[in-house]
Amino acid sequence: MSETIYQGLAGVNVDTTQISHIDGLKGELIYRGYDIRELANKASFEEVTYLLWNDDLPTQDQLAEFKNGLKPHYILPQEVIEVLKLMPKDTHPMHAVRTAVSMLGATDSAAEGVDLDNVHRIGLSLTAKFPSIVATFERLRNGQEAISPDPDLSIAGNFLYMLTGEKPTEAATNVMDVALVLHAEHGSNASTFVARAVASTLTDVYSSITAACGSLKGPLHGGANAAVMQALEKIGSVSKVEDYVMNILGTPGGRVMGFGHRVYRVLDPRAIILKEVSHHLAEESGDSKWFEMSLEMERVMDREMTKKGKEIKPNVDFFSASVYRMLGFPTDMYTPIFAVARISGWMAHLYEQYADNKLMRPRMVYEGPLGKSFKAINNR
Ligand code: ACO
Repeated sequence: MSETIYQGLAGVNVDTTQISHIDGLKGELIYRGYDIRELANKASFEEVTYLLWNDDLPTQDQLAEFKNGLKPHYILPQEVIEVLKLMPKDTHPMHAVRTAVSMLGATDSAAEGVDLDNVHRIGLSLTAKFPSIVATFERLRNGQEAISPDPDLSIAGNFLYMLTGEKPTEAATNVMDVALVLHAEHGSNASTFVARAVASTLTDVYSSITAACGSLKGPLHGGANAAVMQALEKIGSVSKVEDYVMNILGTPGGRVMGFGHRVYRVLDPRAIILKEVSHHLAEESGDSKWFEMSLEMERVMDREMTKKGKEIKPNVDFFSASVYRMLGFPTDMYTPIFAVARISGWMAHLYEQYADNKLMRPRMVYEGPLGKSFKAINNR
């Protein structure tokens, strides 16, 4: 009897969740009942993180208490800074992030507990520390001194501050905040599934988040934002976009980075918002090259995919690339910035996983040979 195979676990429901809902046909993303389009315009990353970790949006007092809970955690232990200093300057910053999370686990004497209080303590700590890790590594690899965090700033503001040592403008902080809100959570995506699968063994939070970082780094997942910018840099001008796209589509298995999604069959709602942000930044900065090239790539892909009858649209990574470029971030920092946001969603899922755990242990259908007889090595 042939068994059904769900390669890539496509279409498989592994559990229920209260955290977020994606309607891939309508193009909707809902965080605990709230539409992402509303949250992106109105809520800060801290409010959204509170929402993802609790049942509802915080009151003013609850938000103040939540932010106060984050602030003592902004600073990195010296051991982690030393590890970041030891890293080769040309290593991918996601190796730095993943290793720093692992090192944080090694330096936390209470790392092991998976009771909800301890998970919450580590969640606050990691959410506050992710921007510090990314900014500190960026400065160290450029031969600069690390900058101490400013706990009076928001997560978004402190991240920008730790990169340059200058207080960021309100406009830049707002754009960063919108990007963090949009990237905070997205259901059972690859890295969140990895985090939950690792946690399902009842190992510690740091191990789960270290694994999630490794998963996010891949070009089919969070690594796609950097791959989009690498493609735009390689193409160089609007007039060359069409040839580039046609060449990829003419190559067997060719993928245009930043397009396609396992769940969305219409435009990803996060891409719509980031497209507006990218447009706005292009107009404000007078540097519209990256936005114009992105528009052209979207146009050519739309035409070609319509011809093939495929619903392959831009995803969240597509317009985030030009947004991050115009904010002045180096290309290989785009995926670490994704991690700065996604720690929020990963932690929300770890609360759910630890609260009602079942070991994740799917099966594989064996298709290899059976019934072979062992031969001693000198007879093979
Ligand atoms: N460019 C060209 N063709 C594509 C693309 C793309 N980006 N994405 C999918 N297709 C085509 C495939 O070639 C395939 O065609 P076929 O049926 O003729 O073989 C069809 O669309 C279905 O693609 P699958 O790979 O089966 O779809 P899947 O759900 O497994 O893939 C994925 C989703 C991995 C995101 C894919 O669209 C892709 O590789 N995109 C590029 C990488 C990317 O942008 N990743 C970021 C995703 S969002 C995120 O993780 C934050």
